[in-house]
Amino acid sequence: MKLKKFAKTGVAVSEIGMGTYYDPPWIAAGFFGWKRGAKAKVEAITAGFDSGMTLVDTAEIYQSEALVARATRGRKREDLFVASKVWSTHLRRDDLIRAFEKSLKRLETTYIDLYQVHWPNPGVPIRETMEAMDHLVSQGKLRHVGVSNFSRQQLEEANSSLPKSQLSSVQLSYSLMQRRAERDILPYCDREGIAFLAYYPLAHGRLVSDHRLDAAAARNNKSKSQVALRWLAEKENVFPIPRASRPLHVLEDAGASGWELSETDAAELDAAFRTLI
Ligand SMILES: NC(=O)c1ccc[n+]([C@@H]2O[C@H](COP(=O)([O-])OP(=O)(O)OC[C@H]3O[C@@H](n4cnc5c(N)ncnc54)[C@H](OP(=O)(O)O)[C@@H]3O)[C@@H](O)[C@H]2O)c1
Repeated sequence: MKLKKFAKTGVAVSEIGMGTYYDPPWIAAGFFGWKRGAKAKVEAITAGFDSGMTLVDTAEIYQSEALVARATRGRKREDLFVASKVWSTHLRRDDLIRAFEKSLKRLETTYIDLYQVHWPNPGVPIRETMEAMDHLVSQGKLRHVGVSNFSRQQLEEANSSLPKSQLSSVQLSYSLMQRRAERDILPYCDREGIAFLAYYPLAHGRLVSDHRLDAAAARNNKSKSQVALRWLAEKENVFPIPRASRPLHVLEDAGASGWELSETDAAELDAAFRTLI
């Protein structure tokens, strides 16, 4: 697995990461303490770590922090890049700090590499949230600050609201099928050295069977999902985080690293999906 600089942070992170949002029934069941299927999910994350993926994305709302913790046991913590998120109802200073401490416990760790605002909350000033993040960074419990589902304007505000630290990443939907981020967010990230975590990198699974990927997959002797993830990973600051819920899929997704699309492949894919920008 190739490592790539997490934009201006300079930290080397696997160019393909793992997402751990499963589905609403899993989340709902978790509130009642039901964890059916947990073992397979831990095995999937473990398979990802074993194949060299170091970046794993979770969130307080996903009911998957404890699964990530189980997969990290016995591993060198400093080799991993654990990202979590704070839900939009916890963006006031004290709420955020409380939520962070709970995530630390569930993740069985003393620090989180990347803590992201999951969704903006118009009722809470971005500055207040960012100052709380800054406080956690100064305490050494948090390495990097990120946001998710922010507009360009909100992103700029967050980027200028951290008194001592810096905004390291943004997380948004981005794939061959969903290219809206190319309009304004991605150029801003590239200019500012902000890493971009691409969620729904396989368009929630739809790209796995999209015939427009056939030719590039055949030319490279790769699967369609590997081509779709490769297309994202080749962008300087972009890190796809496909969902890791089955070892077989995770291992296939890890195979999107370590090779390159040709200019022909890239141009063909670009043309085939361009109408969707
Ligand atoms: N910030 C946000 O608001 C936000 C929102 C949504 C998602 N996310 C993050 O982004 C991650 C990814 O999103 P997502 O999981 O919905 O979409 P996705 O990764 O685009 O697609 C996941 C789907 O693709 C399938 N898949 C993955 N690898 C495959 C392979 N090699 N071959 C065939 N099928 C494959 C998965 O099946 P299996 O599960 O059966 O492997 C699942 O059905 C989430 O887990 C989460 O961490 C963030």
